[in-house]
Amino acid sequence: MKVGVLTGGGDCPGLNAVIRGVVRKGVQEYGYEFVGFRDGWRGPLEGDTVRLDIPAVRGILPRGGTILGSSRTNPFSSEHGVRDIKANLAKHEVDALVAIGGEDTLGVAARLHGEFGIPCVGVPKTIDNDLSATDYTFGFDTAVGIATEAIDRLHTTAESHMRVLVVEVMGRHAGWIALHSGLAGGANVILIPEQRFDIDQVCAWVTSRFRASYAPIVVVAEGAMPKDGELVLKDATKDSFGHVRLSGVGEWLAKEIEARTGKEARTTVLGHVQRGGTPSAYDRWLATRFGLHAIDAVRDGDFGKMVALRGTDVVRVPIAEATAKLKTVDPALYKEVGVFFG
Ligand code: F6P
Repeated sequence: MKVGVLTGGGDCPGLNAVIRGVVRKGVQEYGYEFVGFRDGWRGPLEGDTVRLDIPAVRGILPRGGTILGSSRTNPFSSEHGVRDIKANLAKHEVDALVAIGGEDTLGVAARLHGEFGIPCVGVPKTIDNDLSATDYTFGFDTAVGIATEAIDRLHTTAESHMRVLVVEVMGRHAGWIALHSGLAGGANVILIPEQRFDIDQVCAWVTSRFRASYAPIVVVAEGAMPKDGELVLKDATKDSFGHVRLSGVGEWLAKEIEARTGKEARTTVLGHVQRGGTPSAYDRWLATRFGLHAIDAVRDGDFGKMVALRGTDVVRVPIAEATAKLKTVDPALYKEVGVFFG
């Protein structure tokens, strides 16, 4: 048995731990051979491979990023994408594929398996934690830790200058990072994409915080939008999957807060620092377990499935289930956290 492995979409701390888990168990327990495909779906599309064996995965557990490289290449955007993938899998004598990725990468795996019979097993990853069918994705815990540390640090500088500090975190469609890091970091306002915010209300919360002699911290997810839709999208672009990429909500908020409250405001955009560097212990643990279970699914011939965390168990679910709908923040949970606003 020869197994191909690829990592697609935005990178995420823990990807290397999955690769290591898959390869270590596959070689040691089942005697499988592996081939790594470079840069997500670009690898099988163009036949770009890399050696993947025990020496190749040695020492990678604590390393961020992915030794296989990643991209957002979508094989369905190219006319002969499926034909080329099939040809390259045959050329490299690959019997099964383990695709590690988010909504887009797994969506491709679901189609390749469902419509074209290519044996795929999926492993969910995203720092955004917005994949359905799994309680958590690895990478999320690391990202929340980084964002929380940043908020902790921003509190002291905000207080020294009695300024408003706006922290923009990742999350185009879901506010999980904003919610968790905002709560953990003691933010005074948390704004998420799931619920349009009222700028007057935000300014009222900010003002009330100053009245209590505190400098407020506003955590905003990059996909959050004001109610009246007056957000100026400085850099609205579309990615290869047609998703609108927003930027600028943090800056926009600081400008509006300053103008409306008369308080000085600054913005910190955390950006890719949330995705870089070594994974947390929890993410290494979860990613390793996902890897071990993914290679078991290959051994069982259980294709079209994705490994997922349910409670403390790792289970298998149809890949299509994970990509059908994004997992967004429940309004009741947001309301619960709202007790700290203002
Ligand atoms: O999907 C993960 C994610 O980190 C999003 O939160 C963010 O909007 C996006 O990736 C950024 O992607 P890129 O690195 O391609 O700009």
